[in-house]
Amino acid sequence: MSIEVIRDLRGLHSAIARHRNGPLNTAASLAIVPTMGAIHEGHEALVIEAKRNANIVLATIFVNPMQFGANEDLDKYPKSEIEDIKRLEDKGCDIVYIPSTETIYPDGFDLTINVPKLSSVLCGKERKNHFQGVATVVAKLLLQSGADYAIFGEKDYQQLLIITSLVRDLDIPCQIIPVNTVRDSNGLAISSRNQYLSSKQVDIANNINLVMNEAAKNFYNIDISETISSIKKNLGNAGIDKIDYIEIRNSHNLENTSNNDKSNARLFIAVYIDEVRLIDNIKL
Ligand code: PAF
Repeated sequence: MSIEVIRDLRGLHSAIARHRNGPLNTAASLAIVPTMGAIHEGHEALVIEAKRNANIVLATIFVNPMQFGANEDLDKYPKSEIEDIKRLEDKGCDIVYIPSTETIYPDGFDLTINVPKLSSVLCGKERKNHFQGVATVVAKLLLQSGADYAIFGEKDYQQLLIITSLVRDLDIPCQIIPVNTVRDSNGLAISSRNQYLSSKQVDIANNINLVMNEAAKNFYNIDISETISSIKKNLGNAGIDKIDYIEIRNSHNLENTSNNDKSNARLFIAVYIDEVRLIDNIKL
């Protein structure tokens, strides 16, 4: 069956109702894969995981203005709707919801959801209000769809924790399912923003994961400050000297890891390659 393309809320509700009571003739389960389009292998892995967990897979494509800062790339965020729909369909997605900005934020819309503690560190320091935008739109998409499962990549690990926390605190009856970061053959984490990189810049970016893995090898034998300075030095040697953060934090609550308690440690990195901001994280 071919994918259904839906652009408004009423259409979404009737498509979901049809699928839920459709050929399976049972209360079929629904998994949602929220995206901003520019579908790549990372999103495809989310759709595959969605299919493993639920009978019906709904992907959403919405470039959410609320999560972009004034100087960020909202206007030039890559758009490729036709290719996106095809890729989602090929992976077995049943419905794609592509709402307009007015459908998500109708006239008079006056709500922001804030998950303050988890949002104040790492990417939240540089990207003020970014996570409020993410939390607000994701809450809307989960409630609009009534999905039983929502699938998110660990590439945006902080986002994953924030969404898990908001779903818990608002008692939204949806299970959040994480998926490992998808990497290309050189280890570079797949991201929509990779397409802004020239091939020379990709060669440089490939070092991010190499340097992180190198740091992981020694992490339990040396001080955290030594780990951080060797990462900085190795990134610098690879031509990456514009660093937003290199931090080691607890995977569950994003609190700082100390030398006395390195349990559940995770390494988080955000760097710039010229104007392109790339993030990555690995378990230590
Ligand atoms: O990860 C993304 O693409 C976005 O932040 C999300 C979760 C679709 C919300 O706009």
